[in-house]
Amino acid sequence: MSARSNPPRACIIGWPVQHSRSPLIHRYWLKELKIEGSYELAEVSPEDLPKFVRGLHGAGFAGANVTLPHKETAFALCDAVTDTAAGLKAVNTLWFADGRLHGGNTDVAGFLGSLDQEAPGWDKGLEGAAVLGAGGAARAIIYALKIRGARRIFVINRTLARAEELAAQFGPLVEALDFSCVSRALAKAKLLVNTTSLGMSGQPPLAADLSPLPADAVVSDIVYVPLESALIKTAKARGLRAVAGLGMLLHQAVPGFERWFGVRPQVTPELRALIEADILASL
Ligand code: ATR
Repeated sequence: MSARSNPPRACIIGWPVQHSRSPLIHRYWLKELKIEGSYELAEVSPEDLPKFVRGLHGAGFAGANVTLPHKETAFALCDAVTDTAAGLKAVNTLWFADGRLHGGNTDVAGFLGSLDQEAPGWDKGLEGAAVLGAGGAARAIIYALKIRGARRIFVINRTLARAEELAAQFGPLVEALDFSCVSRALAKAKLLVNTTSLGMSGQPPLAADLSPLPADAVVSDIVYVPLESALIKTAKARGLRAVAGLGMLLHQAVPGFERWFGVRPQVTPELRALIEADILASL
């Protein structure tokens, strides 16, 4: 029997990968949608990545997710990439079509899907947005904000040079600042997004004074362990709309599942509750 006639398989490739909650998400959808298929963990070292990716199809995989530290190397291994992945030079989702390896980056769709679901209308008249951090997550979020027509984006980072490098890739739309300028940026922002690891379980908290933000601003954090970071709690206490990081994790999984298993899954309250319970149990 050929590999292709077996139930479709997918996996997440990372190093390390044991901590990943992607299997829980995809296996939930497989079960709910009564699809025969599997989603596995693949712990692959950087030196083994090219061989593993080239062997994916032959091993019977319909595709894979890619996580740290492989997103840039996997991008380089693809035969074709989506416009978003080309813009970010990183992929987190692989699939096969026309005998070729395709790559996409669903972090952008994940961020947008999460805000659209949890803070509808957040992007209406988006004059200014402030992004804390200048790593890969910040790049994906700036890309997403550009798509939704943000007029001005402040990227604020501890290491100013990194923020400047990121801003330069996007042109005059993005202005680089260091943390001493946070208040000035927040006063002009309808959206604040934390993309740093500050506030994550085991990391120092993010000490940001939210008082300069306009009363109708939305605050978003990519941190989802804990489920509500101090930033999200502070935003809610101020009466602002606040979107924690779990939604982005759940929504970024949707396009990959659809590619591999042929059905577009939904981010439901049940799925959210399942992952929340897993996170709470891990704390
Ligand atoms: P990712 O690619 O996941 O976004 P990253 O490239 O490691 O991750 O970036 C982490 C971000 O968190 C960076 O913006 C980092 O700031 P620096 O560029 O100055 O390192 C930020 N960060 C991490 N720890 C921090 C801390 N203790 N204080 C301030 N910023 C911090």
